[in-house]
Amino acid sequence: MSKTKAQADNITMSGDGLYSLATIGAKDVIDKATPRVIAALEALDSHTGPWHFCDMGCADGGTSLDLWRNVVRHIRKNDTADIQIVYADQARNDFNALVKILHGLTDFDSYLDEHENVHALESGSSFYSQILPKGSLDLGFSATAMHWLSRKPCNIKNHVHMVGANGTDKAAFAQQAALDWQTILIQRAREMKPGAKLVLINFCIDEHGQYLGNTGGVNMFDNFNSNWQKFVDDKIIDETEYASMTLPQYYNSTDEFCAPLVDKNSQVHKAGLRLVSIETAVVPCPFAQEFIKHKNPEQFAAAYIPTIRTWNESTFMGALSTKRSLNERQQIVEDYYDTYQQQVASAPEKHGMGYVHAYMTIEKV
Ligand SMILES: C[S@@+](CC[C@H](N)C(=O)[O-])C[C@H]1O[C@@H](n2cnc3c(N)ncnc32)[C@H](O)[C@@H]1O
Repeated sequence: MSKTKAQADNITMSGDGLYSLATIGAKDVIDKATPRVIAALEALDSHTGPWHFCDMGCADGGTSLDLWRNVVRHIRKNDTADIQIVYADQARNDFNALVKILHGLTDFDSYLDEHENVHALESGSSFYSQILPKGSLDLGFSATAMHWLSRKPCNIKNHVHMVGANGTDKAAFAQQAALDWQTILIQRAREMKPGAKLVLINFCIDEHGQYLGNTGGVNMFDNFNSNWQKFVDDKIIDETEYASMTLPQYYNSTDEFCAPLVDKNSQVHKAGLRLVSIETAVVPCPFAQEFIKHKNPEQFAAAYIPTIRTWNESTFMGALSTKRSLNERQQIVEDYYDTYQQQVASAPEKHGMGYVHAYMTIEKV
């Protein structure tokens, strides 16, 4: 794989617009970040001419429609200059779904036709490469995407995710994540105009040790792991398949996010990037919130499991041996999620996927 296409395998989101339909929580996170994006826009010094934006790791674009609608409306209060928004995601992304959502071929309410001279472009370049021409970007945005590493540094021996890793496995993931975060920032520094801003919303481990699916009740990643281990014990999968199911993700702490931005000797600092602000916040699981109202365990479980599937089904499928038929692999994955769904239905108050993010604004001096 070429350097500019750096991307871990088997991490595609669900296609055909399913991603945005099933991930209401991710939209809640973006909506929460909208005032931060508008503040960054207002802080762009003496902007003239066309506006250049980028939404990195946009998936099918459905979850950020309202964000960009608000940005465009804000600019159009007193500015008629052209607005260009580049929607970037890895080349395996379902760009057909993105184009259909943006151009009004679905039930999603696109903002594109609300104003004149608003141009959406699609890019299959990874955020580990330079996506845009040098010095062209006014404001870059990314939500819930940069936890995907450029490569899996090793299989984690005792778990499916770095949040449960120990010793050398944990250290290898931390090292890879630091390198990847540096690469992401340096590529952005190349693209940004002087004074440009980045608003990056990323999964994190917060100051209370909370992270996605670990905000009280059952720890979602521990549950993934124990169910996958049980499939080994029950001889449904083998040890190699267990070990291959390592998600190529890392959740930084706020210190890890800030390190290259505040260390005067880092390449990122030398490239001109500075931290404006960072805060962490938890967005509650929308499905668990709904359950409090409707109190129907089966309904909760049936709505909740698809949101998990959107982002990790491809990794579970990829972990299974290709010596098995496609049907067999699909059946194992079905059974795996059925197990989880039954667990949720039988103890609904213990489950949920609260989102824990670091919300950052960065500028180029
Ligand atoms: C959980 S989705 C987030 C989508 C949307 N930003 C949101 O918040 O709802 C993560 C997205 O990041 C994309 N992604 C992962 N690695 C990437 C990379 N190296 N370059 C660009 N996009 C990447 C995935 O393909 C996926 O569409």
